[in-house]
Amino acid sequence: MKIVSVVGARPQFVKLAPIATAAAAAGVEHIIVHTGQHYDPMLSDVFFDDLGIPAPDVHLGVGSGSHGVQTGAMLSALDAVFDAQQPDWVLVYGDTNSTVAAALSAVKLHVPVAHLEAGLRSFNRRMPEEHNRVLTDHAADLLLAPTHVAVDHLTREGLAARTVLVGDVMTDVLLSVRDEVAGRSSALLEELSLTPGGFYVSTIHRAENTDDPDRLRAVVTGLAAVDKPVVLLAHPRVVAKAAAHGIPLSQGSLIAHAPLAYPDLIAAVLASAGVVTDSGGLQKEAFLLRVPCTTVRNETEWVETVELGWNVLVETADEIATAVTRARPVDTDAAPYGDGHAATRVIEALRAR
Ligand code: UD1
Repeated sequence: MKIVSVVGARPQFVKLAPIATAAAAAGVEHIIVHTGQHYDPMLSDVFFDDLGIPAPDVHLGVGSGSHGVQTGAMLSALDAVFDAQQPDWVLVYGDTNSTVAAALSAVKLHVPVAHLEAGLRSFNRRMPEEHNRVLTDHAADLLLAPTHVAVDHLTREGLAARTVLVGDVMTDVLLSVRDEVAGRSSALLEELSLTPGGFYVSTIHRAENTDDPDRLRAVVTGLAAVDKPVVLLAHPRVVAKAAAHGIPLSQGSLIAHAPLAYPDLIAAVLASAGVVTDSGGLQKEAFLLRVPCTTVRNETEWVETVELGWNVLVETADEIATAVTRARPVDTDAAPYGDGHAATRVIEALRAR
């Protein structure tokens, strides 16, 4: 069996890591195509290096652009790649423009396509990720769902026959990195002279929070008013938007910092008092590490984190400051995101069909 994985953005490299390992263990031929959607070393290369992912076999070097320009450039480049590789499966990950481009190219070439992390829904049709997920799920031949909730969404959309529950591959990678960094001091604490439990970790990058200057100002004001230092691991998008709108990212409690490599991020979250984010992955990582999370969005795809009390959705500046200081939730041993062996199940599911 030959699988071509198509990735391009930071969270996809994290999901690729356990798949690359499981494919190698199963003796499956695995070709990695990097679209080039993310190209800064801290958003791309460090993930390959730290997570032991083989270097991409093909790099499309597409870079940034408007949604149509970026997605279109990937789409036209991928046709030739799939034609040359003739894979048994194209595997696409998550909900970025790289995901939908690869799914569309594959389906039109009649190459079987599997969607990893299928069935997530925010039901917010203004989010680019929501378009990407819905379009990819309906194009794909095999839907690899991370949770029961995702399976339910796919069933309601008439896609049950193509769906397999495999668990969440981010759990696979998180559990192994957590064990690696356990007991190791966090470089971020030393660099910023922070104390364990004396700071929050934040990431804000979504278009809904960054593109409108009034919205970005409200989020920054909320983070700056928090009772302890808030380390904002600033994605290039928020840095660019803040500079364009004249909004300082280091003010009050808020300290802007470059993004971290994955093991350093996990060590920092483990040492923190909580996470404030609009990232999907980080909400779940915080839950798996049992660190309280505050999510700066009106909805989440990872509803289990909210239902179990470990995540709170907030919108206004006042809500941010209040939510982060809330009491620690009741401990739980619930495991809605699987047992850390999802990647093996993915390879089995691809083999079985
Ligand atoms: C993309 C995904 C989002 C995911 C996020 C993870 C889409 C629609 N969005 O958002 O779902 O959560 O990745 O980080 O696919 N830039 C750089 N260097 C880079 C990459 C981007 O400076 O290496 C800057 C550019 O100004 C670019 C902007 O960030 O225009 C946005 O990048 P883009 O890839 O379009 O989307 P993300 O915001 O990263």
